[in-house]
Amino acid sequence: MKREQPIGVFDSGLGGVSVLRELVSLLPAEDFIYFGDAAHAPYGERSEREIRALTTAQVDRMAAAGVKAVVLACNTATSAACAPLRRRYRGMPIIGMEPALKPAILSGNRPRVVVMATHATLRQKKFARLMERFKEAGEIVKLPCPEIVEFVERGEIHSDALMRYLEERFSSVSNVPVDCVVLGCTHFPFVRDAIQAVAGQSVQIFDGAAGTARELERRLQELDALREEGRRGTIAWLSSSDDPHYIERAKMLYAL
Ligand code: DGL
Repeated sequence: MKREQPIGVFDSGLGGVSVLRELVSLLPAEDFIYFGDAAHAPYGERSEREIRALTTAQVDRMAAAGVKAVVLACNTATSAACAPLRRRYRGMPIIGMEPALKPAILSGNRPRVVVMATHATLRQKKFARLMERFKEAGEIVKLPCPEIVEFVERGEIHSDALMRYLEERFSSVSNVPVDCVVLGCTHFPFVRDAIQAVAGQSVQIFDGAAGTARELERRLQELDALREEGRRGTIAWLSSSDDPHYIERAKMLYAL
């Protein structure tokens, strides 16, 4: 592995851009290749097997393009494919994501925590194990919100339809006050303000992007594979979408 190799960042679509922002902010000298598998999004409504096959195919492409590490900037892809991908690529760090349940639960005295994510993330064993670990420390409520993925893919991050959708989803969990919300899907930070408005200003919101960036830094440090500081890295934008404006939308979200 050479320090000069780029880092691959993968998502089903545009959500991983919220993670890419954190990666670049922590590791500005690195070169990144971002790939959004828009032709197959949303992943969250697919079976575990399909998600694993799609994710593996894209990670194989990134590996063939010469990346030194891959960030699965997608909670859904991580739950379905991270463990098998780590077995497949023993020499290359595969960094996954998981809903930031731990910091949320530890933020208060038995808090009531709502975890917003895709159906696939919330129904997989990985999340069941995470819930099991923290179930005594607070109340954990699962809230699938698959439509947010579609709103963000369209670039619709402020709209009445989005607010109505969020209000409808929250009405099912807000009979008892909510202390924390975990954004368990990388598309969701782009509508964080709308979620805050609907959940209430006193609710604390958590997401896993900064922790993922630190984990990538730690793994590359361990392998002595971080680039020297003092240069500005590049981002190559790729997607499987045939929409000519897709990359523009990715860059618009990146610049927010
Ligand atoms: N961004 C992905 C995640 O973090 C999911 C989006 C999708 O359903 O494709 O879970």
